[in-house]
Amino acid sequence: MTENPAPAPEGADVDVRERLVELAKRRGFFFRTAGAYGGAAGFYTFGPEGAALKRAVENAWRDRFAVAEGNVEIDAPTVLPEPVFEASGHLDTFDDMLVECADCGTSHRADHLVEDHADIEEAEGLPPEEIESLIRDDEVACPACGAALSGEPVEDFNLMFETAIGPGSGSPGYLRPETAQGIFVDFPRLAEYARGQLPFGVTQIGRAYRNEISPRRSILRVRELTQAELELFVDPEGGGPDLAGVADAELRLLSAEAQLDGESEPYETTVREAVDAGTVGNEWVAYYLGVASEWYESMGVDPDRLRFRQHVAGERAHYAVDCWDAESEVDGDWVELAGVADRGDYDLSKHREHADERFSVFRQYDEARTVERTDVDPDMSELGPRYGGDAEAVADELRALAGRDPETLDGESVTVTVDGTDYQVDTGHVEVTTETTTETGEHVVPHVIEPSFGVDRLVYTLLDHAYREDEVEGERRTSLALDPSVAPTLAAVFPLTDGERDRAEAIVAELRAEGFAVEYDDSGNIGRRYRRQDEVGTPFCVTVDPDTHADGTVTLRDRNTTEQVRVPVDALVALLAALRNGDRDFASLAAEYPVVGDGDGSAPAPDPGGE
Ligand code: GLY
Repeated sequence: MTENPAPAPEGADVDVRERLVELAKRRGFFFRTAGAYGGAAGFYTFGPEGAALKRAVENAWRDRFAVAEGNVEIDAPTVLPEPVFEASGHLDTFDDMLVECADCGTSHRADHLVEDHADIEEAEGLPPEEIESLIRDDEVACPACGAALSGEPVEDFNLMFETAIGPGSGSPGYLRPETAQGIFVDFPRLAEYARGQLPFGVTQIGRAYRNEISPRRSILRVRELTQAELELFVDPEGGGPDLAGVADAELRLLSAEAQLDGESEPYETTVREAVDAGTVGNEWVAYYLGVASEWYESMGVDPDRLRFRQHVAGERAHYAVDCWDAESEVDGDWVELAGVADRGDYDLSKHREHADERFSVFRQYDEARTVERTDVDPDMSELGPRYGGDAEAVADELRALAGRDPETLDGESVTVTVDGTDYQVDTGHVEVTTETTTETGEHVVPHVIEPSFGVDRLVYTLLDHAYREDEVEGERRTSLALDPSVAPTLAAVFPLTDGERDRAEAIVAELRAEGFAVEYDDSGNIGRRYRRQDEVGTPFCVTVDPDTHADGTVTLRDRNTTEQVRVPVDALVALLAALRNGDRDFASLAAEYPVVGDGDGSAPAPDPGGE
């Protein structure tokens, strides 16, 4: 099976995309893994700059979605045994649609081909037969060799990577396709830790694996990815969140209803308005859309290139009651960055059915209640000969019926169904007792609200939205306007001449001791050194010059404006901390310290990806 090359989406500036990917490779953001062996599609390594950026994103996510919300974090294995995925439904339904070219053998994701060639934005939810018709009607050809794909079967392909646990044939296991399952399977332990009090949230940041049919567009669709997920367990009858903190957060929403009306432009609203209008049905979902919107903007996602799109019927994952995707505009296409899903009681109910432990919590009533409980004691000496191997299952069904619908046991006979077979059971063979008891509460299966974030795609989006190009005297200059809170390097320190090397190295040591990511560079002219740092998104450069010996000041340069101010060396730690944390911006420094010109004379490069 070979894999198809990545087609460019309509409207994409392919040259800019190629230059961004080339920059990512050359400057150590990301590159194909094991290129020396030809690589393997869908696997990427984050180099030193990319790993630092990714780590900053993960830490910022942890701060916002775990620490600030009082949610806890766990670290579960990436391999789980097969029964977990039988229960979760992934074994049966975690599929994409595959079509293979009969001529060249290339595999394609059929719904994506249809989206690329027909006038359809979302084909994922369509049945395979409809995709086959669209391939035929739109005369879709194989992107690799040009042969017609009409008539080729479209089939479901399960995306999980299978493995064997233990030697020999072992027992089957799978690499997790979502980190969420590591949280759900250990719900009994986690609920105990939370003392059974709802709501409680559990987060996890880690790898997930999907054997994508067509990995494409570098780190936007990979086979080994990093997710940051929050599983929030809520009482289905409990109250929603306090919306106050995010009520005014701005959302650009595209609802399922609007999409069905043919709308493709999001409309601007706020969390409060979206809840009041009923556009977002679940308040927890609305709350986390607001948190996500503000967080993405603080990371450096362009708010005009971010929208929240509700899944249309048929598009939702097998576990979701409702889902809103955060999507960023990248290369003229909308890319899924996150999903905020209402998973209802799907996950815990499924694990409750399949596993031995309790996947519920005890909800205390405000006041104890007196209730009648019906119990049954089937006479197995009668049921055994009548129902043979199904007798135990018949007895279990009778017990379940007594809890569910005790009145049905009042008649002379009752029907129970075992594995699709109906049995008419004589109630004379069942002793029915009714007891009046006082109950202090009941067991409830919590519902799950899941904000699930793709880390790799966010890293790509941050690079894309930060990418700037400029041409000065025939030379293309590139910079990344990364936010100081996530930039791999916060500041670079340069000695202007050899005479300032020791002082510059001492400043680097001091800044590193304070925990700042700092680079030292003394090679080439100062303009070249600036260019090198601009290209990897370093927001600030510190230049040590002969005046530093005299007055203890250095120049501090802002990447985005190239403006420079003269600041005391002693103030650097506090100023860089304030700039990184967003407590100050460079303009406020320019109002406080002497401005010494723009140093290298270039205006900030324009944003080629902006709308
Ligand atoms: N847990 C949601 C997802 O993996 O898409």
